[in-house]
Amino acid sequence: MAHLRTTPPGLSGIELYRTLPKLRRDTLRGFSELTARFGHVVRFKGLWTTFILTHPQDIEHVLHTNAGNYRKGRSYRVMRESTGNGLFVSEGEFWRRQRRLAQPAFHRGRIAGFARTMAHATAEMLAKWDLRFTRGEAFDVFSEMSALTLRIVGRTLFSTELAGETDAISRMLAVGQDFTIRRMWQTFKLPLGWPLPAHRRFRSAMQEGDRIIYEMINERRLGATEGQPDDLLQMLMGARDEATGEGMSDRQLRDEAFTIMVAGHETTALTLAWTWYLLAHHPHIERKLHAETASVLKGRAPTFEDLPDLKYASMVIQETLRMYPPAWALGRTSIEADEVGGYHVPAKSEMLLFTYTTHHHADFWESPDEFIPERFAPEQVAARQRYAYFPFGGGPRMCIGNNFALMEAQLVLAMIAQKYRLRLVDEHTVEPDPTVTLRPRTRIVTTLERV
Ligand code: HEM
Repeated sequence: MAHLRTTPPGLSGIELYRTLPKLRRDTLRGFSELTARFGHVVRFKGLWTTFILTHPQDIEHVLHTNAGNYRKGRSYRVMRESTGNGLFVSEGEFWRRQRRLAQPAFHRGRIAGFARTMAHATAEMLAKWDLRFTRGEAFDVFSEMSALTLRIVGRTLFSTELAGETDAISRMLAVGQDFTIRRMWQTFKLPLGWPLPAHRRFRSAMQEGDRIIYEMINERRLGATEGQPDDLLQMLMGARDEATGEGMSDRQLRDEAFTIMVAGHETTALTLAWTWYLLAHHPHIERKLHAETASVLKGRAPTFEDLPDLKYASMVIQETLRMYPPAWALGRTSIEADEVGGYHVPAKSEMLLFTYTTHHHADFWESPDEFIPERFAPEQVAARQRYAYFPFGGGPRMCIGNNFALMEAQLVLAMIAQKYRLRLVDEHTVEPDPTVTLRPRTRIVTTLERV
């Protein structure tokens, strides 16, 4: 590797530590500016070395081509404090086994069967929206979408009604995310056992999460759920170790179920909330979407078979995921030394793959800050570099729920759009807030207008 330019440009020492608070305050703009200043590989040299990557080829190299040389990065260790050793953070042979166990719940044929449940849950929500419409009531669209996607993940994967727990789960997530992102930014982390008010609040939020999950597991054990549902929870509970014949421990079941419950609803709710926000600001795109839903569905509920015809709805969702990727950055740690983007990467380096910056970079997107769903027409997708767009990651650790999420978002969008337009009560710009996921910084308050 002697021919390599060894060190990419970037920040180190005092200059780095002086810049970090600014990056913390204005993360998305800050990292975009760093990429504009230094290029597609930026190096931070502090107590450890971090490489910030935004070029599709480098993203592909780390996530896919040489994925075996990378483990999940440092920030995922903080996530473990809430998810435990669930699928999102586990590693090696253990991860491979757990992924194999969960995978059948996400096979295409099975997901097709979820369409009816998704449409049914949306119809229930729309019945409530009819009352809101009559009363002229305003509401926060992210909360509504979260309640809906939580209900869907509960019914499809756990055969459980989680609707009654919506408030408890959103409180838990708000406390959990706030605590986790603060800790991710801290160079020195105090042990969780220390009796600080923030630690206590976090632990109590997690206990609330545990209560919900363990209640679900216990109900299944006691046979309280009707019949023996053939769902993800059953697959996890029924799994036996080939060598010992033992099932998963309660703790491991909790970690897997908690991971799926959280990862499986908030990201899709964000996608839908940002979609409504973007549509309200782009009436010509909204009109095109309404024309498609009217002509394909003719007033009836969408089914799985309608999805290929709801092409524009799918393009709208994909474009939202480009502009507001819920997973706005991914992290990895190199195991052995490697070569990335023409530079030498030592072993144990941190790699920060900046989804948001790649998705908004003028090198890969024309008018990157404009909402243009047509970018996802098949011929445009085929002409683009594969990893210019990676809202679900890539390679072996690619999101297990990507088809589930895309189908759900497309179906919910089409079903609502054939009945209502959402209007913003306040026209101000809502900024994205890069916590663990990319949340709206302020509420997106909307009213309903009949189509
Ligand atoms: C729009 C919605 C979603 C987005 C944007 C999204 C994004 C992602 C991304 C980027 C990753 C990879 C993280 C990494 O490489 O470090 C991931 C992994 C994962 N996602 Fe999703 N996700 C979504 C929906 C879902 C759904 C619906 C589920 C489950 C029902 C789910 C469950 C998971 C799990 C379990 C993993 C870890 C997979 C593994 O490492 O084997 N996600 N997701």
